[in-house]
Amino acid sequence: MNILVTGGAGYIGSHTCLELLRRGHDITVVDSLVNAQREAVKRVQQLAGREFPFYQADVRDEEALETVFAVGRFDCVIHFAGLKAVGESVGIPLRYYDNNLNSTITLCRVMQRHGVKRLIFSSSATVYKPGVPMPADESSELGCTNPYGWTKFMCEQILRDLVVADPDWSVVLLRYFNPIGADPSGRIGEDPTGIPNNLLPFVAQTALGRHKELHVFGNDYQTHDGTGVRDYIHVSDLADGHVAAIDYAMNHTGCEAINLGTGIGYSVLDIVHAFERVNGVKVPYVISPRRPGDVDAVFASPDKARRLLGWEARRSLDDMCRDSWHWQSMNPQGYGR
Ligand SMILES: NC(=O)c1ccc[n+]([C@@H]2O[C@H](COP(=O)([O-])OP(=O)(O)OC[C@H]3O[C@@H](n4cnc5c(N)ncnc54)[C@H](O)[C@@H]3O)[C@@H](O)[C@H]2O)c1
Repeated sequence: MNILVTGGAGYIGSHTCLELLRRGHDITVVDSLVNAQREAVKRVQQLAGREFPFYQADVRDEEALETVFAVGRFDCVIHFAGLKAVGESVGIPLRYYDNNLNSTITLCRVMQRHGVKRLIFSSSATVYKPGVPMPADESSELGCTNPYGWTKFMCEQILRDLVVADPDWSVVLLRYFNPIGADPSGRIGEDPTGIPNNLLPFVAQTALGRHKELHVFGNDYQTHDGTGVRDYIHVSDLADGHVAAIDYAMNHTGCEAINLGTGIGYSVLDIVHAFERVNGVKVPYVISPRRPGDVDAVFASPDKARRLLGWEARRSLDDMCRDSWHWQSMNPQGYGR
């Protein structure tokens, strides 16, 4: 198949591109590089042993997208492009709403014009209302606490409405839980700019000595060791989930929200201890006050993904910790800036 990948230079996008190429699909990538490096694209090409077209363009730029669609005949689109920092979205909401909503609307408009009606959208577990009973399944109540989450919530609604208006469309809303890890080659991985927002890059950079210690936010949650519990999933399992979602979208119409998680929750300290054990390194940490908005535990029901996509996560916590460290220790400065 011929697949357009927006945001394909990013963390999840680069791993998914690699998996698509390994399975023999053709891809084209559009990425503005607002949060990624061109080097990631080069490395995916090296790992796959294949070139593919790359356009440095903003998905909100309709003319640029028209050019891309004029050249390629796509069967399906995966839309990863988006801004994703929760904290930042609180300070600059308009930038988040503009980027995440307008990129989705522009993309769909151009797809429609070219008769391409198969879309896999990157949604998030943040669309679930804090405090819903766990595990969260796709019928759990929705509601967000920050602009980033609302952009995902709103995009989901826009896409549901699009499918109602034109039932030829097939849209899969993939709600990711907490992607971590990296391709086992150690050549591609998560490369956050500045201080990482997510746990694993911070853990790995602390082990590397780039930070004095890890701040564990709160140790009085209602969990087995008091620290927050999340559903961490290996990014290569997520990539496999996208391949399964494409197969599903090619054979069905309608709009389905589907969780991509393992169904297993690990605490912050579970992660720290596993990371130390698997990699033989030390991760000094201190307990800091809770962060506003954080909840005790968030983990997925993976049943719908198993049922509809025939997909489930296969990689273990040890795999995630080993592969994260492999990437970080081989690339202490990420892709290098
Ligand atoms: N990583 C997570 O924890 C997580 C969890 C749930 C959902 N998601 C969503 O999954 C998607 C991919 O996440 P990621 O972790 O790979 O993030 P990422 O920042 O590494 O990748 C996103 C990519 O999109 C590009 N981009 C952003 N806006 C663009 C635009 N308007 N036009 C063109 N390119 C643009 C960026 O340069 C980047 O390469 C995002 O939509 C994110 O919100 C991520």
